[in-house]
Amino acid sequence: MPLIIFASPKGGVGKTTLAANLADMLAQSGRPVLLLDLDPQNAARLHFGLPLAEPGGFMAALARRPDWRQMIWRMPNGLMLLPHGAMPLRASLEQALMLEQDPGLLHQPLREMLADPNLTVIADLPPGPSQVLALTAPLAAVIVTVLRSEAISAAMLGEVESGRFLGHGTVTALFANRLHFVLNGVAMQSRLSRTAAEAVAQHLGPRLLGAVSQDESLAEALAQMRPLREVAPASAAARDLQHIAQALAVLSQGPVAEPAVHPAAAFPQPPFAQPPFTPPSFAQPQPAPPPYGGPPYPAPPPHEAPPGHALPAQPYGPQPPAPHQAAPQAPAWAGWRA
Ligand SMILES: Nc1ncnc2c1ncn2[C@@H]1O[C@H](COP(=O)(O)OP(=O)(O)O)[C@@H](O)[C@H]1O
Ligand SMILES: [Mg+2]
Repeated sequence: MPLIIFASPKGGVGKTTLAANLADMLAQSGRPVLLLDLDPQNAARLHFGLPLAEPGGFMAALARRPDWRQMIWRMPNGLMLLPHGAMPLRASLEQALMLEQDPGLLHQPLREMLADPNLTVIADLPPGPSQVLALTAPLAAVIVTVLRSEAISAAMLGEVESGRFLGHGTVTALFANRLHFVLNGVAMQSRLSRTAAEAVAQHLGPRLLGAVSQDESLAEALAQMRPLREVAPASAAARDLQHIAQALAVLSQGPVAEPAVHPAAAFPQPPFAQPPFTPPSFAQPQPAPPPYGGPPYPAPPPHEAPPGHALPAQPYGPQPPAPHQAAPQAPAWAGWRA
């Protein structure tokens, strides 16, 4: 029954990565889960080893009103995937217009999916406002907004938390209590990333479902076209995602999207529980500017590498040695459908 949508004001923040891996983890816990790719980037399939040459997909065929049940790919753990399908830019733009005129094209199959009381539908959306966001948000039990742990996330917080980025003007208030957040790419060794994470966490409070470490295991899993749970189950990101999956499971069960699990309880080891970093206080007396020709300012502290570029101070979590793979291998089950 519940629909969980993954949205974000910006692209490249990890929406697809999180939607795919959380869907996989929820399915692994025994829930019937359908991952619905609504982003023309057609990238959700990449996390599950679907053949790259496979052009088929639900959204790409939407104008023909396909039977979505016939288009499902079933993964070994039961996860069902509806790929978007390959679609040129022009066709995507035309489809947006078509959906504006005939929302039933998407609403009809979506309502059929949601009619199954046991099924959790997780939809991966394109970044920013879009026609599919406008059509799915009103039906969603949970709207997960993915933010990157960087200064811009903290700076844009007011805009983002209001839900204005959803593009719905004044009706955003309707979504307010269903709007939740995940902070992605927290790099503990980066002061900037940590400070941004702390600021965002403090501001959002219980609306923050959790945070995900910056972790190469996620890129490695994607390179192998397999879920993180299979590739690096003991990685920091896998642990973070498991906590968020639990929070999502609780959240999407209830009729009201009030967080049943407070992030503090859901995260025994949140990044924010690390030794606190004290940001320089603006209240501290600043050195007086030197007179012209006077002595230079004291040298500023050395810049940190930007988030994602700094070497980890210590390796992430206990990890089994990564198996060497010459090239991504399509899983044995790829190529057949449910
Ligand atoms: N926590 C993370 N740690 C490391 N890499 C990440 C993390 N989250 C996402 N990535 C990488 O960032 C890139 C963009 O992620 P993606 O899920 O495609 O973003 P979006 O769907 O928002 O455009 C991918 O290469 C992905 O592997
Ligand atoms: Mg994406």
